[in-house]
Amino acid sequence: MTAQPSTNKKVTLEELADLCVRRGFFFQSGRIYGGLSGFYDYGPLGVELQRNILNSWWRWFVELRSDVYGLDGSIITHPRTWEASGHVESFIDFLVSCKKCGSEYRADALLEELGIRVTSLTAESLKRAIEDHGVRCPVCGGELSDPRPFNLMFTTTVGPRREQPLVAYLRPETAQLIFTNFKNIVFAMGATLPFGVAQYGKAFRNEISPRGFLFRLREFTQMEIEYFVNPRKLNSCPYFEEVKDLKVNLLTAEDQEEGRQETREITLGEALERGFITTAWHAYWIGESLRWLWSLGLDPRHLRVREHVKSELAHYAVQTFDIEYYFPFMGWKEIVGISNRSDYDLRRHQEYSGESLHIVDDGEKVVPHVIEPSFGLERVILAVLTEAYTTEGSRTYLRLKPEIAPFKVAVFPLVKRDGLDTKALEVYRILRAHFRAYYDDDGSIGRRYAKADEIGVPYCVTIDGQTLADNTVTVRFRDTREQVRVPLSSLVDTLRTFIEKGVTRAETSYTVSAGKEPEGR
Ligand code: ATP
Ligand code: GLY
Repeated sequence: MTAQPSTNKKVTLEELADLCVRRGFFFQSGRIYGGLSGFYDYGPLGVELQRNILNSWWRWFVELRSDVYGLDGSIITHPRTWEASGHVESFIDFLVSCKKCGSEYRADALLEELGIRVTSLTAESLKRAIEDHGVRCPVCGGELSDPRPFNLMFTTTVGPRREQPLVAYLRPETAQLIFTNFKNIVFAMGATLPFGVAQYGKAFRNEISPRGFLFRLREFTQMEIEYFVNPRKLNSCPYFEEVKDLKVNLLTAEDQEEGRQETREITLGEALERGFITTAWHAYWIGESLRWLWSLGLDPRHLRVREHVKSELAHYAVQTFDIEYYFPFMGWKEIVGISNRSDYDLRRHQEYSGESLHIVDDGEKVVPHVIEPSFGLERVILAVLTEAYTTEGSRTYLRLKPEIAPFKVAVFPLVKRDGLDTKALEVYRILRAHFRAYYDDDGSIGRRYAKADEIGVPYCVTIDGQTLADNTVTVRFRDTREQVRVPLSSLVDTLRTFIEKGVTRAETSYTVSAGKEPEGR
């Protein structure tokens, strides 16, 4: 596949951000005070979309499985956690500042924006790239400083002691809370290998240059799974059959190091056989993560799996694959990172706490290895909105899967008189008990449909003169604007079936895509 899929629509970031703010998905935090860069508040529609995606993730990765437990750890965390995890020492980006105007940039991001590829992320190689390409400050053209390390963790103080306060960190990843609770979970749940622990919640990084609307934030939401496996059984994954024939667009580290940017279309089975992915459990979690992303409506052609080159690997990682989405306005960008963290974290916590973090498997004491799928909720939302944004002539609509649409149904009287509004309110009250719904009788019916389309409402129910005569209503499909007449007596059941099956047009049977829900296990 080419580095740039031709199938992607050409939505701009400005168009998307404008819709999101205007229709109440996201607001810049603190805007009335000039705004705080890197922070967004979820508006009324955003919060519904967020909950629907979180619920879908939890259902897919926790509820439908018997081998994954849930956790919700604290945000302000014991400082030793981050000394042990290596974040105090190694969770850094390289900062360059302009010697003239003082503007500050993340060195690798600045180079990437200028189309300069660096395959090694050290201070030396970044400095060399800046010098070789004569990179200057994009704001004033001034000379840039040498790159220097900048730790991304936010700190706060705990307790009332003014002198010598306890300095703690806001977690930069949710993962460490899972590692520090490993023993608790094993004891409380009687967990045996292999098993996983899933957690979602806020994470904080003092990014040098937040940008790309929801893409690079300082406060964001992670959805992470740490999956623990006996190190001698990293290749015996009982579920591998389920993903082995999935085709993925893979870009290996070797390809990149040799200057190739073309992905190869390959099954996960073959990627494992040929040693591109080194363990079956890692390949399984790549497949499972992709299947969930497909189930949200992301087009497989807009997703690729890119391996980290050596110098990109986080301090804890043995091998990492990012799932990247092709954003028409900023190219391929990571939305999920899937790492093999080996036993790095558990061993470090053992060392720093003095507590043994082993588990018994097959009569043998082992410190498990970990495969970690790490999803960023806001990046997934940005990809979902980008994928859904559709224009047809002067019409704009969000082609969201009904399961995740903020509102499932809107109820309108055709006109606000002749008893149609009273009847429509009655219908709305019935539907509201079953689905997230809203009522609108303001302005022309065309305008109300247009607004519903723009916020991705899959079904509009309209009450017209015929409703009063025969107790039927029209259900309009967002994507095709087709309408079907449905008796009021079966409206709730009909809509429930449409939502569950993802029906988006009249007279079509829902075909199950590759991203279908897994069987419960
Ligand atoms: P990048 O290279 O873009 O900075 P990263 O490699 O640091 O990302 P990870 O450390 O792998 O990201 O974090 C796991 C996931 O958390 C990412 O795939 C992403 O979805 C999300 N994430 C990380 N940093 C941010 C951020 N600043 N804003 C929003 N989401 C983020
Ligand atoms: N837990 C992976 C990361 O946040 O980098």
